[in-house]
Amino acid sequence: MCGIVGYIGHRKADKLILDGLKSLEYRGYDSSGAAFIESGSSKIFKQIGKVDGLENIMSKQKINSGLGIGHTRWATHGSPSMVNAHPHSNEDQSIIVVHNGIIENHLELKYELESKGYIFKSETDTEVIPFLIDYYFNQDLSFENSFKAALKDLKGAYAIAAISTLNPEIILAAKLSSPLVIGVGKNEHFLASDPSALSGYTKKVIYLQDLDVAKITKTKVTINNLGHNHRVKPKIELIDYDNEKAQLGSFDHFMIKEIFESPATINNAILGRVLANKGIIKLGGLESVSEQLKYIERIVIVACGSSFYAGLVGEYLIEELAGIPVEVQLASEFKYREEPFSRSTALLAISQSGETADTIAALKKVSDYGILRLGIVNSIGSTIARMTDAGVYCHAGPEQAVASTKAFIAQVTVLTLIALYLSNGQTKLYRPILKELDSLPEKAQTILNQTDEIKKVAEKYKGYKDFLYIGRHFSYPVALEGALKLKEVSYIHAEGYAAGEMKHGPLAMIDKEFPTFALASNSLTLEKTYSNIEEIRARQGKIIAVSTIGNKKILKLANDVIYIPDTLEQLQPVLQSIVIQLFSYYMAVAKGFNVDRPRNLAKSVTVE
Ligand code: F6R
Repeated sequence: MCGIVGYIGHRKADKLILDGLKSLEYRGYDSSGAAFIESGSSKIFKQIGKVDGLENIMSKQKINSGLGIGHTRWATHGSPSMVNAHPHSNEDQSIIVVHNGIIENHLELKYELESKGYIFKSETDTEVIPFLIDYYFNQDLSFENSFKAALKDLKGAYAIAAISTLNPEIILAAKLSSPLVIGVGKNEHFLASDPSALSGYTKKVIYLQDLDVAKITKTKVTINNLGHNHRVKPKIELIDYDNEKAQLGSFDHFMIKEIFESPATINNAILGRVLANKGIIKLGGLESVSEQLKYIERIVIVACGSSFYAGLVGEYLIEELAGIPVEVQLASEFKYREEPFSRSTALLAISQSGETADTIAALKKVSDYGILRLGIVNSIGSTIARMTDAGVYCHAGPEQAVASTKAFIAQVTVLTLIALYLSNGQTKLYRPILKELDSLPEKAQTILNQTDEIKKVAEKYKGYKDFLYIGRHFSYPVALEGALKLKEVSYIHAEGYAAGEMKHGPLAMIDKEFPTFALASNSLTLEKTYSNIEEIRARQGKIIAVSTIGNKKILKLANDVIYIPDTLEQLQPVLQSIVIQLFSYYMAVAKGFNVDRPRNLAKSVTVE
C-alpha cells in the first residue's frame, strides 16, 4: 500500500527519494510523487502510474536539494489521479505533506477548514493535514508546533512526513498505527514507512512509536511523544536486512521466482532449528517464553488472507501434535468479538509483512489482557515482530510479488516446527516429521521440475470462468488458499471448500463449465475425496487432481493429474501449495495479466 520515504543530508535528495520509492514499488501503488526544498522554495512532482514516470518528469528539471520527501499512493479516498497523488500542500506550497493511513474525521475537519476559507482541490483525506498546519502556523505557532497542533486534531491512522520552506532544515514526522522508521547515517537521516527502503543506505534505525513526533535534521533526531507529553530518547537499533534488494534474475516475474525459491525457503525456515538426528527442535525466538508456554491451554491465531489459511494448517498441526486447542480468527473480525480470554491463552499473529493493520489491531486489542503475544513474521523488524513478546521469523527473504507464495510455504513450515516444539516430543510423529522435514526441500524441487506440465494444464483450462478447489483435513486450507491465489492473479472466480461440504451446497454449481481442482494426495481421507470426485464427474464436472506419485487410480477419475512426491500427511500442505501456486501463476500468464501487481491489490495492507 502507500509508501513514504524522506531524506535530509549531504547527498542529492532526488536520487535518494527515487531509489526509496522504487524499493517500495512491490507494495502496490497507483501514483507517486516527491517534493524538495531548494534555496527556500519548494518543488513538487506527481505522476500517475509507475515511479519511472515520476523519474522522467523529475529528470526534466534541475533539482539540487538535500531535503526531500516522496510517496507511493494506493488510492483509498479518491481515484488515482494527479490531483489526488501525494505530496499535498497548502495554497502557496510552503507546507508539504505525505501521509499513509486514513484520517477518519477528515470530513469534519474539511468542513471546518472550508468555513475558514480553505479551498480543497483533491478528494483525499490527506489534504486536511497541510491546511491544518497552515491554519495553526497563521495563529503564530512555529512550523513544528503547528505540526503538533494539527496532529492533535486527527483521528484515525497515520504516518506523516512534512517539510516546509518556512523551516528548510528539518523534516517533521509522526506516526499512529502506521509504521515509520528513521534511518541514521553520518550527517544525514532517512525516513521510510518500510525499513526495506533503507537497505543499502544504513542499518541503524529508530522505530517511531505511536504518537511520536520526530524533528529530523541532518545531524539530530529529537522525539516527543504526544500521548505521554514528554521527550523520548531516540533508541537506535541495528537492522539485519534479510537480503540485498531482490532482483528478478532470469525469471519473468517475481511470483515465479519466489515459487522457485520454495526449496530454499523450506531450508531457511528449518535451518539451525531442526536437528533431525538428535531429535531436537530449537526455536531461539521462543526461548525467552519457554516456561510460560508450558502453561498455555489455548492458542488463538489471528491473521489475514493467505496468512490466515496458513493459520488453519497450523490449527490442525498444533492440535494434533501438541494437543493444545487452537482457534484461527480473521484479524479483521477478531477486533469486534467480545470473547472471554483467560491468562492461559496465547495469541499468535501470523503476517508476512508484519505491517497488516488488522493484525496489528488484533494485537493491540489484547495488549491489556496480560496474555502471551506470539508472532510468525517474515519481515525483520516490522511492527508485528516488535509488538509481540516472542516469535519465530520465517526467514523467507523479501517477497516482492503481491500474491504470497514463498512466505505461505515458510509460514506453514514454521507452524510445523512450532507444533513439534509445543508437543515436547510427546507425539509419536515427532521423530518421523523431523526426519521428513529434512527431505522436504528436495521433494519441493521435484515439483518444480514438473513446471512445464503444470503450465500445460493451466493453459488448457484458461478459458474457464469458474473454479472449485476441494480438499479434506490438511488439504482443506490448501483448497482455500488455491482459490484465493487463482482469484488474485488471474481474476477467475474460484471457491475453496472442504470436500465434505460438497453435498451441502456447492455441488449445485457443478456442470461441464465448472472445473474442480481436487487435492487428493495419499491420506486417511483419500477414499472419501474419491467419492467427491465421482460425484463431480457424474455431473460432467472436469477434475484436475493433485495426487501422490504412484497413484494410478486417480488417472481413471481425473481429467488431469499433477503428481507430488509422497510425504507425511502433515507436510502435504507445503508440497500441494507449490502446485496451486504454479497453476495460478501460469493461468495469469496465459491470460496476459500483470502477475506481480494484480489490479486493486497492494502487498502490504496497512489500513483497516
Ligand atoms: C495473498 C496475500 C494476502 C496476504 C494478507 C496478509 O496472496 O498476499 O492475502 O496474505 O494481506 O498479509 P500479511 O501476511 O503481510 O499480514
